[in-house]
Amino acid sequence: MTGTTDATDPSGTTHDTEVTPSDAAADAGAVMNLLSGLIVAQVLRASVVLGIADHLADGALAAEVVAERAGSHPQATYRLMRAASSLGLLSHEGQHRFGLTGQGRLLRADIPGSLRNMILAQTNHGHWQSWGHFPEAVRQGGSQTRKALGTDIFEYYALPENAAEAALFAQAMGEMSALVTQGVVAAVSTSGVSTMVDVGGSNGDFVLALMEAHPELSGQVLDLPHAVDGARAEAEKRGLSNRFSAVAGDFFVEVPPADLYLVKTILHDWDDMQCTTILRNCRSAVHEGGRALVVEMVIGEPGKPDFATLGDMAMLTMTDGMERDLTEFDALFAASGWRRSKTYPVGGGYFGLELVAV
Ligand SMILES: C[S@@+](CC[C@H](N)C(=O)[O-])C[C@H]1O[C@@H](n2cnc3c(N)ncnc32)[C@H](O)[C@@H]1O
Repeated sequence: MTGTTDATDPSGTTHDTEVTPSDAAADAGAVMNLLSGLIVAQVLRASVVLGIADHLADGALAAEVVAERAGSHPQATYRLMRAASSLGLLSHEGQHRFGLTGQGRLLRADIPGSLRNMILAQTNHGHWQSWGHFPEAVRQGGSQTRKALGTDIFEYYALPENAAEAALFAQAMGEMSALVTQGVVAAVSTSGVSTMVDVGGSNGDFVLALMEAHPELSGQVLDLPHAVDGARAEAEKRGLSNRFSAVAGDFFVEVPPADLYLVKTILHDWDDMQCTTILRNCRSAVHEGGRALVVEMVIGEPGKPDFATLGDMAMLTMTDGMERDLTEFDALFAASGWRRSKTYPVGGGYFGLELVAV
């Protein structure tokens, strides 16, 4: 069907605007499908909270058996599993029995590639509340976490009463690190590097994975005081404590010296001025001939499917930061004494941007 619609421009003039020919019913279905995103997120959350995928780890089970093991309502559990099967997370084997698909397997705890903690973190109080104010984020052009939580997101995680949620967030970041580690190890040049500092390194999963791949390198995490014990524990768990340290500090004040700075999913949390401060602090402290590796999503051309643009919406409502395109990144680098020397995809939609000091 071809259609036209009236649009009112800012000057108040009303005129006809061409719309692309399409099928009205199909359009409505597609928009409703988009709207179901909030339901999909909660199907993921409930499935993880009830451990549905873990209960199915050894094979398909009837929903009623899963309900018994999960301590949940049998019919409601069946309805949840039916919804999960319609999303491709579970397979339906007949007679209320469901099994895991490849995607559903990623909801399991403690398996390589698990996204369990990421699902929990993204749907937790700290993340979820800010979405309720999202239109205001657009109206005002900034974070709604103060309104939703009373603090900014990192202050929120630092509060003692939110320690469990902060630990979950750190584990979620570790799951994201696992998506890019292989790609980074394959691409990053470590020649001339003996010390690395993971700036805002959280649990240290990223720098520790690089240390595992490069036994000659030592690593350090710089993060806020509440985060560093988790990094030390992770190093201990991996048997890397002898080459690792964690330091509590503030990357807006100073960073420890290093040959290679790892700045992974940090810049997207902050505005341009704040990013420039972080990068300048790295530039001031970097050893002669040293480098930095920024790992972030990179926004592409508008008008094409681009997950980074959705990540950018999360940054808009939760932080003062943004996802950036390469031109925007290069402006930050130029303003802080760095130049991008290499760019490569590292997996999961992320890119490695290698920087040399100028
Ligand atoms: C989005 S997480 C990224 C964690 C890690 N780089 C990764 O990619 O898995 C941001 C991290 O920055 C840390 N952070 C926030 N403000 C900081 C500050 N002023 N100084 C040091 N670390 C900070 C947070 O505690 C958190 O661990």
